[in-house]
Amino acid sequence: MGHCEAFMAHQGVSPPAQAAADTPDLQALVKANARYRHIIGNTPAIIYSSVPSGDFRLTFVSENASRVLGYESQEMLDDANFWFNHIHPDDIAAIFSSLAMLFVEDQKVYEYRFRTSDGSYLWMHDTLRLIRDDAGKPLEVIGLMTDITGRKQMEDELQRQGEEQRKLIAQLKMAQAQLMQSEKLASIGQLAAGVAHEINNPIGFVSANLNTLGNYVATLLEGIKLYQCILGGALPRDMADGEVRSFEQRADLAYLSEDVTDLLGESNEGLQRVRNIVQSLKDFSRTGESNWQMADLHQGLDSTLNIANNELKYKVSVVKHYGELPMVKCLASELNQVFMNLLVNAAQAISDKGIVTIRTGRIGDKVSISISDTGHGIKPENLNRIFEPFFTTKPVGSGTGLGLSLSYGIIKKHGGHIHVHSETGQGTTFTIELPIDPANVLKPEGAGDSPGGAS
Ligand SMILES: Nc1ncnc2c1ncn2[C@@H]1O[C@H](COP(=O)(O)OP(=O)(O)O)[C@@H](O)[C@H]1O
Ligand SMILES: [Mg+2]
Repeated sequence: MGHCEAFMAHQGVSPPAQAAADTPDLQALVKANARYRHIIGNTPAIIYSSVPSGDFRLTFVSENASRVLGYESQEMLDDANFWFNHIHPDDIAAIFSSLAMLFVEDQKVYEYRFRTSDGSYLWMHDTLRLIRDDAGKPLEVIGLMTDITGRKQMEDELQRQGEEQRKLIAQLKMAQAQLMQSEKLASIGQLAAGVAHEINNPIGFVSANLNTLGNYVATLLEGIKLYQCILGGALPRDMADGEVRSFEQRADLAYLSEDVTDLLGESNEGLQRVRNIVQSLKDFSRTGESNWQMADLHQGLDSTLNIANNELKYKVSVVKHYGELPMVKCLASELNQVFMNLLVNAAQAISDKGIVTIRTGRIGDKVSISISDTGHGIKPENLNRIFEPFFTTKPVGSGTGLGLSLSYGIIKKHGGHIHVHSETGQGTTFTIELPIDPANVLKPEGAGDSPGGAS
């Protein structure tokens, strides 16, 4: 069964012969009248008419239809399945459902590909109009086809360009993420020696403590052995007293029991410090995580200070003026990266000894964090360049010039602002303002990237 019969069966329309009898002969009309011939033959639309009774047999095709499609009009009229047989196979299904609606709505518009005489396909826009007789019986379908191949090609081209742009944007995003990660790793690299020191210090005294504790355990075991001998009667009574006294003197049990408690406490504290630093490093170096979460910014500042501690502690005293901060919806590890960069910049600006002051506070539905230093300040001519990527005044190896530009990007992503105030020779203050809930400020764009996406 061909397409047409399938459609006829599907539609349940009357057989062709009967309807054909009622169909006005457009062909004859146009042939007979020069005026009609001229008008219909030269409209840019490709006009055809067909009997709607199942096979959609063409009963009229305009001169322009022959010209555009490349078939003789007689050829089109003679083949009962001409129209269906020249539709692109991929478009047949959509056309079937459109044709079904034609009998309900009397008019239908759709697009499909039509095979021309050279075998290529043209995109067609087709407006079908169903003509009925007075009794409502379908008589004829008039089709106005327009060649929209040019438009389709443009759409395809636009889509291709759009895809290319999307790809480029994705690549840019990836490059940015990589930059961010390398700046992060660079700062960890700069801090690594300090972090190692911070970890080594407690490890040093914990292992010394373990050594002492080992000696204490040996002493105690010796005592236990002595008491076991006495209890077992292996040692005569008069000797036992002397042995016990001499052991207790050697062991200094009063001091030992006090020292054991101290050593254990100190070791625990040391291990806790190591754990904190390792956790801070983990928080800080976390990659690719863009998890919007409610976070305590004081905790972020403190764990960043933990990592930067060694860099800071010899020349900088850190003063904290922490105000009341609500939990803030943010990408916590990215904000930590901003804090880290500001703190390290502050420390690097101080050549001998100085103060870094961290202030936090809430202003309405925003929070503010400022980091001030008493360092050498920023030269006025550099002030509007410091947020540029790769702008650095530091020697190769100690500055990437990426810190502030990435910080700027991170703060923008949070719907916030970052300002700088600096006086040469006096010091510099960076102030960050962040909305408590960035969803109120930012319009969501891509899910996952936007604070509206996660809760
Ligand atoms: N607290 C500060 N004090 C003085 N200069 C600063 C301070 N913070 C940033 N700068 C200047 O801004 C430049 C860019 O900083 P940044 O983007 O973090 O890159 P980097 O620290 O790798 O140089 C620094 O090289 C420095 O000249
Ligand atoms: Mg920096």
